[in-house]
Amino acid sequence: MASSPRRWSRRWSSAPTPAPSGGGGTKDPPPKGAAPGRLPADAIAAPLYAAGLLRLGDQLASLLAAGTRAVHVDVGDGHFVDPIALGPIVAAAVAPPVHDAGALVDCHLMVDEPERHIDQFAAAGADHVTFHLEASRDPGRTIGRIHDAGMGAGIAIRPETTVDAAVEAATATTSAGATTTADVVLCMSVHPGMSGQSFLPGATARVAELRRRLPDDGQIQVDGGVGTSDLAQLAAAGAALFVAGSSVFWHGDPAVGFAELLAALDRPPAARDHPEDPA
Ligand code: DX5
Ligand code: ZN
Repeated sequence: MASSPRRWSRRWSSAPTPAPSGGGGTKDPPPKGAAPGRLPADAIAAPLYAAGLLRLGDQLASLLAAGTRAVHVDVGDGHFVDPIALGPIVAAAVAPPVHDAGALVDCHLMVDEPERHIDQFAAAGADHVTFHLEASRDPGRTIGRIHDAGMGAGIAIRPETTVDAAVEAATATTSAGATTTADVVLCMSVHPGMSGQSFLPGATARVAELRRRLPDDGQIQVDGGVGTSDLAQLAAAGAALFVAGSSVFWHGDPAVGFAELLAALDRPPAARDHPEDPA
């Protein structure tokens, strides 16, 4: 029997409130019976992969004070993606201050056999784990295991993976016959692996197709190369969650970079900088 997953939609449907700090950021249980709601349009997650690791504590504190609602931990295994990137030890280190600020730890597993690592991220204090569809033999079962570990579950797709495959997997049927649904589909807007790549403009049309075809309570997240010129059109296409690394951390002041992204979400979708996108 699955425990109540910490679904983003439930946790993020209201303003963040400080978690009890006695245990160093103990997570709140999810609100019982809360109706899944749309995430607020300020759900921009900061990926620590793009941070200056020697200044991580200061940068994290600054972003949390600026209203960051999620901190994104990219995990690369040197196999599914070439880089060996952050792991559960980083999630565990940041979880207490993130939770104390009422924000979430969102882990993006760019690893083969993601199911082997779920328990490590749960123990580290992760609230949400997204794995790559291309890396999982049984996505429905993996979603179920993430939920059983008390976390929200997401499925990520590379730019080459079809929307068909994502929709099918996000609504998979487990071997036990139970239908499971991913809380989030993460549409990569760069090739997974590194921060600092350019946004692939075809992502906007993919988001729109995902939005048309996914259940209403399935959230769509966009990750990679997202800048101020992309946010409004991505939001108009149906994305509610954004991951922006270099736009935040490679800005002279990450809190200002974050604030500029928030402001950009209010811009009309006509502010389109990628003319090759379909209208
Ligand atoms: C890329 C990672 C992203 C990355 C985002 O593989 O999944 O989360 O850190 O950084 P930017 O916004 O610089 O592409
Ligand atoms: Zn990521």
